[in-house]
Amino acid sequence: MKVFTTIKDLKAALDTYRSAGESIGFVPTMGALHEGHLSLLRKCKEQNTISVVSIFVNPTQFNDKQDLTNYPRNFNKDCDLLIEEACDIVFAPEVTEMYPQEDTRQFDFGQMDQVMEGKHRPGHFNGVAQIVSKLFDAVEAHRAYFGQKDFQQLAIIRKLAELGKYSTEIIGCPIVREADGLAMSSRNMLLSAEHRNAAPRIYQTLQKAKQMVRSHAVSEITAMVKREVESCGLLRLEYFEIVQTDSLQTLSEITAEIPATACIAVFAGKVRLIDNLEFIPHKK
Ligand code: PAJ
Repeated sequence: MKVFTTIKDLKAALDTYRSAGESIGFVPTMGALHEGHLSLLRKCKEQNTISVVSIFVNPTQFNDKQDLTNYPRNFNKDCDLLIEEACDIVFAPEVTEMYPQEDTRQFDFGQMDQVMEGKHRPGHFNGVAQIVSKLFDAVEAHRAYFGQKDFQQLAIIRKLAELGKYSTEIIGCPIVREADGLAMSSRNMLLSAEHRNAAPRIYQTLQKAKQMVRSHAVSEITAMVKREVESCGLLRLEYFEIVQTDSLQTLSEITAEIPATACIAVFAGKVRLIDNLEFIPHKK
């Protein structure tokens, strides 16, 4: 596995592979890798001959500076995992490499980044778009892999690829969960033992909510979710929304015709966890 820290060296290596007719798959990450990240890499390896993983904790997407400071970093362990998976290239730049000067670009995603994560983490998706566009320019991949765990991020990246006319194909991958249902996340390792025990309640509540879809109004489902999540005294609901799967617009009524996804953000102590579950699938 080759490790690059500069865009110039990365581009030179990838140019060689591209000229030799290789297909390049790309998995952007912020490190502290777990099975969720590795599932993207496995998909990437299935569909491409060269796999590139980036590890970069992107400061511009953290609206909370404490969250940035506390974000788990474990580069050596990440590299061990990537070697085991036979990853070809790791790109691990310093902040000064990606931001030699301040990035003042403002992206316009319409309403898409005004709801849910966008509403509660102002500037977050603009920061994601800044780094992902820079990474896309550096890697020029045939395909790039993103998890449905970050449901809104995936929708925004699809929009970014469309607006920026990137030739990189965006591939969404299913959420990988712990045995008890908790969606895997680098932040899970920051949970205290009691918060970790309480956290599976998030997914359990989403499943319970899904069962109520045919028989209850959205307002009743939302009330149940808040009650269930918070009843253990360890979790605090930040938002629960049922949105139209493609536009991300909030649904106040659910019908079998409109694809819908429920999204949730919960504080477990100081750690913020997100999850989502498809309620109404797209028609085949
Ligand atoms: P990070 O949180 O490290 O996640 C990297 C990728 O792994 C994202 O596409 C995310 O959706 C996916 N992922 C995380 N947990 C997952 C799980 N349990 N199952 C499936 N996929 C999972 O998302 C980011 O980094 C950053 O915002 C980034 C896109 C790298 C830009 O900085």
